[in-house]
Amino acid sequence: MISKETNELLTRVGPGTPMGAVLRRYWHPIAAVQELNEKATKAVRLLGEDLVLYKDLSGNYGLLHRHCPHRRADLSQGFVEERGLRCNYHGWLFDETGKCLAQPFEDTANPAGRYREKICQPAYKVEAKAGMLWAYMGPAPAPLVPSWEPFTWANGFAQVVFANIPCNWLQCQENSIDPVHFEWMHANWKIRLEGKSGYSPTHKRLGFDEFDYGFVYRRIREDTDENDPLWTEGRVCLWPNAFFLGSHIEWRVPVDDENTLSVTWAFRRVPKEREPYVQERVPYWYGPIKDSKGEWITSHVMNQDFVAWVGQGPITDRTKENLGRSDIGIARIRKRLLADVDAVAAGNEPKGLIRDPALNECVRLPLVGRNELMSGYTMNELLANTSLNRVHTRYHLQYGQPESVAREYEEAMGFTFHRGGFVERR
Ligand code: FES
Ligand SMILES: [Fe+2]
Repeated sequence: MISKETNELLTRVGPGTPMGAVLRRYWHPIAAVQELNEKATKAVRLLGEDLVLYKDLSGNYGLLHRHCPHRRADLSQGFVEERGLRCNYHGWLFDETGKCLAQPFEDTANPAGRYREKICQPAYKVEAKAGMLWAYMGPAPAPLVPSWEPFTWANGFAQVVFANIPCNWLQCQENSIDPVHFEWMHANWKIRLEGKSGYSPTHKRLGFDEFDYGFVYRRIREDTDENDPLWTEGRVCLWPNAFFLGSHIEWRVPVDDENTLSVTWAFRRVPKEREPYVQERVPYWYGPIKDSKGEWITSHVMNQDFVAWVGQGPITDRTKENLGRSDIGIARIRKRLLADVDAVAAGNEPKGLIRDPALNECVRLPLVGRNELMSGYTMNELLANTSLNRVHTRYHLQYGQPESVAREYEEAMGFTFHRGGFVERR
């Protein structure tokens, strides 16, 4: 349990808030590279600010405040030029630094007034990495966009999956350091959803450790021991708002105080027979969280998580909770976030920023199954290994993968996946 004031401090992310200042020190994935190739402008809301993301005809990305500084038209309805984004109301043109490059009528009627030199639209940095577009809204100099180890892996098929989640970012992120929920929310609930009885193996022991880029949690269940990789390596609560699970990373990107963008980057290594494999473009898709009747979708792991997060309320009331020993990790990340608030307020850096380009060539993280991932597998090994086979069936993390992405994936893997997990060589 924490006080109302502390809960406010941890959860409010808008401009001028202490936690908003912390979160503005990190890069956040906000869209897929492919999205902007399909449509050059996108209305975005991030950390309580309405913005427009665009890609101009020269390939420059920009992220500007949404409303035009002339008379507040919506710049996401504007059009891109060789350089910059033009407002569709009266034609004012802006580059990615927010500089006003043209004001067609003012430039004609009163060129000597140099009015446009007095105008600057607030602008933030954008970079592309791993098929995603990342935004940085903090002070200069910006740190580097992290090159997390999986981004450097070859011979794989990646996809970016989004969902709009109507609740605060922190309750989503607390799920990244919550090992026991796997037993109940995923394993046992799945048993019940299938109409079966019985329970999955229970947790016996947990461990939580801090490292440079977040926290690691470890678990021993009644069917595992201290030699299990989920104890020796563990899973990573990646700082400040992500979850690293080996071959996929989930971010909980704060849209505003009561909305979060769930972003998953998921990687699958292709069988050895398909190597060398180079992915030309990383596909993306947005999945629904409710069905056409307004009922929660509960069939996939992340959809189950979404049900829990939104169920905790728009901003969960932490004055009414009762933490136990399973929540030690949650208490620790809250404490660490509060330390980051103090650090930033004192003019220091928060945890885990990366500024060294050599280090950022490849930032290694604790990784379960490293050897298997690094050495790869043949088609026969893949088919014979039930755990590999499971993750190599249709996208199992979130509901709603479009057929077109499933086909691209099958093409990359050299398999056709049928309902019921039956796999056939193409
Ligand atoms: S409102 Fe944008 S140019 Fe007039
Ligand atoms: Fe979960």
